[in-house]
Amino acid sequence: MSVRKVLVLNGPNLNLLGTRQPEIYGYETLDDIHQAVRHKAEQKGWTLRFFQSNSEGELIDAIQAARLDGTDAIIINPAAYSHTSVAILDALNAYEGKVIEVHLSNIHKRETFRHHSYVSLRADGVIAGLGSRGYLLALDGLGHVDVSKQKT
Ligand code: DQA
Repeated sequence: MSVRKVLVLNGPNLNLLGTRQPEIYGYETLDDIHQAVRHKAEQKGWTLRFFQSNSEGELIDAIQAARLDGTDAIIINPAAYSHTSVAILDALNAYEGKVIEVHLSNIHKRETFRHHSYVSLRADGVIAGLGSRGYLLALDGLGHVDVSKQKT
């Protein structure tokens, strides 16, 4: 089975992209990233949902909804929740599709508390340090992962 439906999830403070520490996260806004990701998904003929929340519970609700609505893959930048949220890890563990984790910055080159990501324990692939391009590479990567084991 090939990928048809993708959810892109963005965690806390990513709504501030463009003005938030641009020397680390770049000058592109989340809307710029949304447009670029939507364009690439359309080229592939995939359905895309793009969502950002500052609330852990809303991100978990979106992951739970993806379990039931036929979403084939989740691309997630959990932001600071990467380093703290067992609850997001549990939600992703209950989801059967592919999961790609994206970070704009290289979390391994930064403070030690950013080196560990709970989400990486579940992710099928992780992209860090390539800026907004990471989201596009994640979409391309999904074209090459085997989603045949998931429920239809
Ligand atoms: C981030 C890295 C996290 O450590 C940080 O808390 C973020 C963004 C990134 O995209 O580089 O908010 O996930």
